[in-house]
Amino acid sequence: MAPLLDEIHLHHLHQLRCRPAAIDQDGLRLGDTYVMFFAESELMAEHAYRLIGDRPGADVLEVGLGLGVFAQQLAPLRPASYTAVEPHPAVVDLVAPRITAQLPCPVSVVVDPWQVLDLAPGSVDAIMYDTWPPDGHADADFAAFVEHVALPALRPSGRFSFFHSGIELSEARVRVLDEHFPGWTTTRFTVPPGQLPAGWTKPTGDFLVPLAQKGHR
Ligand SMILES: C[S@@+](CC[C@H](N)C(=O)[O-])C[C@H]1O[C@@H](n2cnc3c(N)ncnc32)[C@H](O)[C@@H]1O
Repeated sequence: MAPLLDEIHLHHLHQLRCRPAAIDQDGLRLGDTYVMFFAESELMAEHAYRLIGDRPGADVLEVGLGLGVFAQQLAPLRPASYTAVEPHPAVVDLVAPRITAQLPCPVSVVVDPWQVLDLAPGSVDAIMYDTWPPDGHADADFAAFVEHVALPALRPSGRFSFFHSGIELSEARVRVLDEHFPGWTTTRFTVPPGQLPAGWTKPTGDFLVPLAQKGHR
């Protein structure tokens, strides 16, 4: 297997960590780029609900803590534990205390990239993947994450979702989902135009909420 943290990824992580992290009324900025908006709360609630809405007591992993919007939406769904993986120490300092105070379960944050995660096999019930890969590497990282991290870490029937801007999955993502999950679905979600903040930078207010479930192999 090719190393998950090659030169390109190490360089990208270095650049990412050099960006100052700041939270304002719209969301989380790394340097001059917004990476997450409070306006995405209902979208993240939909991810959370589809992952564990009918499964209280779930062990949840999120890749990319960001602004903690997804984590916050888990609170009413009574998870058993929440673990985030986030390589930017200043993001963790800004966000982890709020999430720890708001969630009714143990919270742990691994201050590292997902590429070095070492999870016990079959130890989580639900995974949310929402990260910031190097330009041009999003689909390859997604494939590597699913094969080398998500599938081994999920319990049988465990669920996987990921952030997706726009209303069509790339062929590469469809191939990965078809190959590794016996059944998966997507649901459309639109952030109403009136709720988009002035500083909105994402390509569209239309999203997909994918949901994939691991088989029993
Ligand atoms: C869009 S934000 C996540 C937003 C989050 N879902 C929320 O609800 O607030 C993406 C996050 O992924 C983090 N990230 C970037 N590279 C990563 C990696 N290799 N592993 C884990 N997280 C990473 C970024 O630092 C950033 O905080």
